[in-house]
Amino acid sequence: MRPLRVVLGVSGGIAAYKAATLLRLLRADGHDVTVVPTASALRFVGEPTWSALSGHPVATDVWTDAHDVPHVQIGRGADLVVVAPATADLLARAAHGLADDLLTSTLLTVTCPVLLAPAMHTEMWEHPATRANVALLRERGVTVVDPAVGRLTGSDSGPGRLPEPEDLLGHVRAVLAGTAAPGRPADLAGRRVVVSAGGTREALDPVRFLGNASSGRQGVALAEAARDRGAEVHLVAAHVETALPSGVRMTRVGSAQELLEAVTAAVVDADALVMAAAVADYRPDTVSGTKIKKGAGTDAPTLRLVRTVDVLATVAHDRPHPGLVVVGFAAETGDDSGDVRHHAEAKLRSKGCDLLVVNDVSGGAVFGSEQNAVHVLAPGRAGQPATEVAATGTTDKRAVAETVLDALVHRLAGTAGRTDRHPLG
Ligand code: CTP
Repeated sequence: MRPLRVVLGVSGGIAAYKAATLLRLLRADGHDVTVVPTASALRFVGEPTWSALSGHPVATDVWTDAHDVPHVQIGRGADLVVVAPATADLLARAAHGLADDLLTSTLLTVTCPVLLAPAMHTEMWEHPATRANVALLRERGVTVVDPAVGRLTGSDSGPGRLPEPEDLLGHVRAVLAGTAAPGRPADLAGRRVVVSAGGTREALDPVRFLGNASSGRQGVALAEAARDRGAEVHLVAAHVETALPSGVRMTRVGSAQELLEAVTAAVVDADALVMAAAVADYRPDTVSGTKIKKGAGTDAPTLRLVRTVDVLATVAHDRPHPGLVVVGFAAETGDDSGDVRHHAEAKLRSKGCDLLVVNDVSGGAVFGSEQNAVHVLAPGRAGQPATEVAATGTTDKRAVAETVLDALVHRLAGTAGRTDRHPLG
């Protein structure tokens, strides 16, 4: 498979140093990267850094090697142009079609996707001129990543930081979704996948809640893996203790009820739901509007709990369209009434899902850990026992995610894509 050709434009901001790390990450992903720094970018990071890290000579103006017409050569055959950092000036020039240097000239010649990662002081980012330029670029189909919020170059802080290189790589992968990257199948291209992750929190009063030990790592790994395989991913995230992925649509939720509402809305036009969230089974039957006080000499309160809604079973039994593939998770231990497999089969039946990813949590080792081992079960035909369609040994959560997605891709193969189902939609 040929490596993808990425043009990495760098404009003149202090965050230009982060583009060097992004360049390394892009190369580690197997891309062939050509760097086009602007004259001001070269005042921050010099030409030898870009040529050494990219493994290519770096053209810095339109006049050198003019016989090669560099602005056309560089853009020709490019699969993606990324500009990081994109200064307010670069955004303005790109929005208005100026072609006064090699980078803006290249931007005018390319037909591939363009991703701009702005970085500037908050005042410049929020200025109506910049807002209008960003709106114009987005209207034209350019992906403009929102800057991160945090410490800026001086003592000030606010929106305007260049996102970290790992986050930018996530955006690159999302834009390239559907273009098979080296070594990675794009077998979820054109599919919409909803993933739930993390632990729900059921409020007791304004400051207290009942929660659980889920870190959300498995759900986040699933969202990232699905994104990298070409899916349009919508992550419904409850409480998560790990970094949230870039390049996916995100809805944050607190309680099981909020999770139900977000998931129900998200699956309407989705191809698959992967329910990796650890949803509370019970919630306090009343929520105090004010903080519950100890009070002198009063007894410890007794909590009365009521059942929460079962999101997985609700969606699986009441599907918005028959093509939706529903994947559940089950954390099981063996007990006197049966082993892990027995409980997993019962759960597969009662939840009504198409695939069930089963963890044996007898040792309590899964929550918060980096490692996991799973079996993926599918319902048997006509009263037959469930069949195991995939399994992993103990491995990292990304590898588990890839195995789950392999099973999902196989299951989706028999269903029409959304566009096939809704030819007029
Ligand atoms: N789940 C859900 N809504 C709930 C509880 C669980 O959607 N109120 C989903 C989880 O996201 C997971 C699957 O159901 O995909 C199984 O979760 P698990 O905790 O193993 O099962 P429970 O249904 O809670 O059953 P039990 O605790 O009795 O084993």
